[in-house]
Amino acid sequence: MFSYRKLVAIVLSAVALTAVAQSRKIEGIGRTATANEVAAWDIDVRPDFKGLPKGMGSVTQGEKVWEAQCSSCHGSFGENNSVFGALVGYTTKKDVETGRVASLMPEAATPARTTMMKVSHLSTLWDYINRAMPWTAPKSLTANEVYAVTAYLLNLGNVVPDDFTLSDKNMAETQKKMPNRNGMMTQHAMWPGKEFGGIAKPDTQGSNCMTNCATEAKVASLLPEHVRNAHGNLAEQTRGFGPSVGADTTKPAAGSGAEAKKSVAAPAAPAAPAAPAAKASDKAVEVSGPLKSADVSAILSKNTCSACHGIDNKIIGPSFKDIATKQGVKADAVAYLTGKIKSGGSGVYGSMPMPAQGINDADAKKVATWISQGAAK
Ligand code: HEC
Ligand code: HEC
Repeated sequence: MFSYRKLVAIVLSAVALTAVAQSRKIEGIGRTATANEVAAWDIDVRPDFKGLPKGMGSVTQGEKVWEAQCSSCHGSFGENNSVFGALVGYTTKKDVETGRVASLMPEAATPARTTMMKVSHLSTLWDYINRAMPWTAPKSLTANEVYAVTAYLLNLGNVVPDDFTLSDKNMAETQKKMPNRNGMMTQHAMWPGKEFGGIAKPDTQGSNCMTNCATEAKVASLLPEHVRNAHGNLAEQTRGFGPSVGADTTKPAAGSGAEAKKSVAAPAAPAAPAAPAAKASDKAVEVSGPLKSADVSAILSKNTCSACHGIDNKIIGPSFKDIATKQGVKADAVAYLTGKIKSGGSGVYGSMPMPAQGINDADAKKVATWISQGAAK
């Protein structure tokens, strides 16, 4: 559940801040944050409700906020699971009494796990909405709107009545009604449970090697190649300055053995992030030797080709391998495939048509080249 992850994040960032504070000061870089800047970042609301701004909002007001800003994604009753799991459902008045959500029990065989079933702390719900929602415009809600829409969700979840108003004054009182307030596990290091006499059991177990230690790290698991670029090229999505520029995910990872080329964008490169990467991919067409899926995966995901075509597997359209087998033998395969990629078609593989694609000529040609060469992984 997110409250746990959030706590981990807070602890980690506290550690990181301490480390930064202790590290050497670099002349000419940075300045002390102003009080206003710190205040703008310091928005967390703690489980003891420290950090809550003053304000209030009723269920009725919350319904208006919900309909205008939330229901398009989460459904009128928080029931929609098309963009994310349903937020509301399967909590009862009985759960409000016990603090344990009965539908979470295995024997209930509930078909879904909703946010309201799982969340144990009202502060988490408030804080999450305040910092992250609506998804497309985080931090755009006023404090009163957050109170109101939180009240509305609680009302949908049978926690508070229709005429309820949530405010900084009654958050703690309302916490005592959270359906799953007693449902959290404490059997891990973050909250050493009383049942273990306060002895923490970390999530990961390891020991410090003191003698005969391995001198080289052995990589035990790798990100599968097909997910590396699943969200498009990270190097083009992150700022071009600062300590950690996103890896160029159109190339295999450094040390993956697949390619010796450097895969992480030069950390200090201040140039506009998109330009160098685009040039690099144009060049790849000229490079001799067959193209690999890594050379085209950014194009395939940007143009959502991957939604319909797998490399090895048929989805809505045939697999790229099957296309390669069928069309790669053609003398004019590249020209033929470029044309088909741009204008779509039907009847070659079945009755399902492929719509015309708004893809640029260079990208279409590159994908066509890759397919004509066998659609190698
Ligand atoms: C454009 C779509 C969209 C809109 C509009 C939107 N949400 Fe969300 N919401 C999401 C997505 C996607 C997630 C999951 C995000 C993630 O896990 O990174 C989410 C997650 C949440 C969660 C956390 C659920 C959990 O169990 O982790 C809450 C609570 C929530 N939204 C409330 C709201 C509220 C309140 C509004 C209106 C003020 C709103 N959302 C508007 C898309 C949207
Ligand atoms: C909505 C689903 C869909 C999308 C999106 C899609 N395709 Fe297709 N594609 C198909 C279907 C279905 C066929 C089979 C059409 C047929 O039988 O003639 C196909 C066929 C093809 C063929 C083979 C044409 C032939 O005559 O042999 C190629 C090449 C191809 N698609 C590439 C792409 C590329 C590249 C993209 C992204 C720019 C893309 N497709 C996007 C569904 C899709």
